[in-house]
Amino acid sequence: MTESPRIAICPGSYDPVTNGHLDIIGRVSRTFENVVVGVVNKPMRKNATLFTAEERVAFIEDAIAADGLENVEVRIFSNLLVEFAREVGATAVVKGLRAISDFEYEFEMAQLNHKLDPEIESFYVFARSNYSFLSSTGVKEMAIFNADISDLVPAPVAAALADRLGRR
Ligand code: PNS
Repeated sequence: MTESPRIAICPGSYDPVTNGHLDIIGRVSRTFENVVVGVVNKPMRKNATLFTAEERVAFIEDAIAADGLENVEVRIFSNLLVEFAREVGATAVVKGLRAISDFEYEFEMAQLNHKLDPEIESFYVFARSNYSFLSSTGVKEMAIFNADISDLVPAPVAAALADRLGRR
């Protein structure tokens, strides 16, 4: 009997994707047979995103192609995460955890998603120490002041941030 492939979802806003996100996606792609990066297309919080969902997808697709991650695809979703997981046949949601400050929010999300669908398991991967300070919000703030973010995000993301936020 052939078993169906183990599919994981790496969901998030990715506004924009950072090298920390890409490190997690790469590590998950070496553990699961297929990975679907789910880009949320609804403002989860009150603030609207800087980049459109299509732009956020394009940044991630470019980066995973450059890294040669052939078992990773990127999709936009705007329904419940567990519904999206069922649609793509995923049994796992995998996210990165940087510090204790992430824990409370992620613990709540994991409990909420378990309540919505107990068949979908949440897994957390610890961020590498060199990315433990890195966030999309942080790079946006750095970009406003033209700080060097070249080792924190892929080059096309750095260029787009400089274009949209940088001081002229
Ligand atoms: O890290 P993020 O960007 O805040 O994560 C977004 C997401 C969807 C993974 C998180 O908010 C979550 O797990 N939400 C569960 C509830 C849900 O499905 N909301 C609808 C999303 S469109």
